[in-house]
Amino acid sequence: MDTATALTQLRAAVDAAGFLVAPDTIEPYLNESRGRLHGQALAVLRPRCTDEVAAILRICHTHGIGVVAQGGNTGRCGGGVPAAGQIVLALERMHAIRAVDALDDTITVEAGCILAEVQAAAAAVDRLFPLSLGAEGSCRIGGNLASNAGGLNVLRYGMARELCLGLEVVLADGRVWHGLRRLRKDNSGYDLRDLFIGSEGTLGIITAAVLRLLPRPRHTATALLAPSSLTAVLALLARARAAGAGGPHSFELLPRIALQAAAEHVHGCRAPFAELPPWSVLIEFGARGVWIEAELEALLAEAFEAGELDDAVIAQSEAQKAALWRLREGIVEAQKALGASLKHDLAVPVSRVPAFIEQACSALAQQLPGVRPYVFGHVGDGNLHFNLSPPPGMDDASFLAAAAPLTRTLHDLAAAFEGSISAEHGIGLLKTAELARLRPPLELELMRRIKDALDPQGILNPGKVLPPR
Ligand code: FAD
Ligand code: MLT
Ligand code: ZN
Repeated sequence: MDTATALTQLRAAVDAAGFLVAPDTIEPYLNESRGRLHGQALAVLRPRCTDEVAAILRICHTHGIGVVAQGGNTGRCGGGVPAAGQIVLALERMHAIRAVDALDDTITVEAGCILAEVQAAAAAVDRLFPLSLGAEGSCRIGGNLASNAGGLNVLRYGMARELCLGLEVVLADGRVWHGLRRLRKDNSGYDLRDLFIGSEGTLGIITAAVLRLLPRPRHTATALLAPSSLTAVLALLARARAAGAGGPHSFELLPRIALQAAAEHVHGCRAPFAELPPWSVLIEFGARGVWIEAELEALLAEAFEAGELDDAVIAQSEAQKAALWRLREGIVEAQKALGASLKHDLAVPVSRVPAFIEQACSALAQQLPGVRPYVFGHVGDGNLHFNLSPPPGMDDASFLAAAAPLTRTLHDLAAAFEGSISAEHGIGLLKTAELARLRPPLELELMRRIKDALDPQGILNPGKVLPPR
């Protein structure tokens, strides 16, 4: 590899603002969202168009230089952290909305569009782009697709994959795959689009996408529920899904410890019940008609009658809805404020959630007495953020040093429950060894063959997703 020549060529491939090498200018691109991983890079490239991305890839391919794509850099598993000798390819300057088509119900956007901007562009034509997550003000659509993001509305609308119809991708050697199709149905051969979605920058660089738009609900009905038990959470879910309006779009589990932390440590968060129940559920429906509120009230009345519910707060105004959502989002903020926490984003079949939580909590308590699980999130999808905080009195460094066996316990149990070690955050850098440990050898072999076929020199996000051979 001739690094000096490569850098000269890279500098020439973009404009002055597109090539950063000074340490203070590249610093923000070297660290991940939680500040736990710190990378290094030869340079940061900020292309303005697909042709510039293609030129950058051709140069890196020729010189064997690793390329780490970055969108908003909000990822949770170190997928966007570069290593020495690699470049960061930041898509942030490619943020045009290329087209909105209300008849096809599609929006065509460049990879660097911030998710909230895509949502706003959809709303401007009275449509919904339903992907929604806590980082939506800073994550970018290329990153959302590359990590197949989930979030708060998956229950009704699916993950990023289900919301994408077509892609434009620059391949490892700089060729461009023009797959910006707007079709709902296409069985003409293997699905290349789905291969790139969720590949975390290891198979190609997503430069643009055609996304699905949906009817925009004019009304939402939101409530915080206090289920009578964890098993009742599932009964409530089943009841809610059978209700009108296609069922709820959000059904989020909130444990007492997490609501307490949010109420104590996050500005604007207030405990909703006089006495917090062990588990709460934040539920939200959307519909075009106002009847949705009556529907929710009827649903809750039936659930009280059936003994599934001990208490409930129905939001009476937009401000009250926002306050309930603030509590949900406050959990992540509170954990950050409280120091070290060990993040997990597991999934098990929905029906097995209560047994999984019970067994996992008891296994962890035996392994590290006093460890505090914050089990929250997208329970309607069977996806739990099983975050662990240290036992009272244990310092962060000792806790993190003792972390690997706790993670293995949770991952082993998720596997035993026919689940996944990563339901939405991906593998990145942090979970490669666990992927190799827990996915069957045949699946790993197939993944490697795909990687070798699309990136024979291994320049795309080296060391991420698949562990070194
Ligand atoms: P980045 O972090 O920049 O990149 C993520 C991965 O994709 C990296 O491997 C990177 O190399 C690759 N990549 C980025 N852009 C491209 C591209 N154009 N082409 C190819 N590869 C690319 N995630 C969820 O799924 N659900 C949640 O509910 C959720 N909530 C969150 C809440 C908070 C407060 C935060 C901070 C994060 C949350 N996340 C969540 C994680 C994160 O926001 C998502 O994974 C998001 O989709 C990442 O988008 P990004 O643009 O920041 O990607
Ligand atoms: C969430 O659902 O809030 C996030 O996925 C959790 C996180 O980012 O840690
Ligand atoms: Zn999540």
